Amino acid sequence: MASDRMQEPPDPLLHLQRSLQVSLSDDLLPDVGPAQPPSIAKEVIEISFPLLASPVKLSVDPSPGCGGVTWPAGEVLSQYIIRRGSLRNKTVVELGSGTGLVGLVAGLLEANVCITDQQQLLDLMLVNVALNNLSHNVTALELNWGEPLPLDLPAQPDLILAADCVYFEPAFPLLVQTLSYLCTSSTTEVLFCYKKRRKADRRFFALLKKKFSWIEVTDDPDREVYSKQAISLLRLVKKS
Ligand SMILES: C[S@@+](CC[C@H](N)C(=O)[O-])C[C@H]1O[C@@H](n2cnc3c(N)ncnc32)[C@H](O)[C@@H]1O
Repeated sequence: MASDRMQEPPDPLLHLQRSLQVSLSDDLLPDVGPAQPPSIAKEVIEISFPLLASPVKLSVDPSPGCGGVTWPAGEVLSQYIIRRGSLRNKTVVELGSGTGLVGLVAGLLEANVCITDQQQLLDLMLVNVALNNLSHNVTALELNWGEPLPLDLPAQPDLILAADCVYFEPAFPLLVQTLSYLCTSSTTEVLFCYKKRRKADRRFFALLKKKFSWIEVTDDPDREVYSKQAISLLRLVKKS
């Protein structure tokens, strides 16, 4: 099925240093896909960000689906929140966390974080929470878009994060619904990092427009670099 494929491999930003580079198939399938590329082994990688004292350690494993490895929008969003600084006393929820990279970075910035994804990613997220010694402030929960929110999820997060979550058309309305369920307060900030892959993505934005308006984040010095890779960082605002 052509519509459920992610067409491009993650292309790490030039300034982001990886101690171990994961190479990915052009044809990595999301969870619904029948097969996974056999060439990628389970391994622990380290991703360094210039302003973070130590690298983020990540167990990556493509077997539970495309979220088992990191994607470029996640690195962009991580870098952006690091540059903004401490998230102490903030409550953060991440959607479609995959390995948990962005949420773990929020945890390293001292937020209380809930990273979420589908059930098959939970073990990997928990391993990564432990690898980064963040069990005291980062929890991992199953959250399927479009379904009722888990009871343990913070009711009014200060910040909602989502990176590289627009790629599978049947999930578009579900993601919009979950963003809308979660965004119950006018003080909640939503940072949504998106990599354009297909023309069909515009259908996601047509749905999003019914519930949210958005503006492009312009105070990011890396913007020029990642916009060349068709990545945009958006701040969503729920329509009243
Ligand atoms: C391309 S990955 C991005 C992972 C991570 N945010 C990153 O940037 O590295 C998309 C993520 O969305 C998750 N996802 C897809 N459909 C979902 C759904 N219906 N409910 C919850 N999560 C979903 C996948 O499991 C996957 O982890």
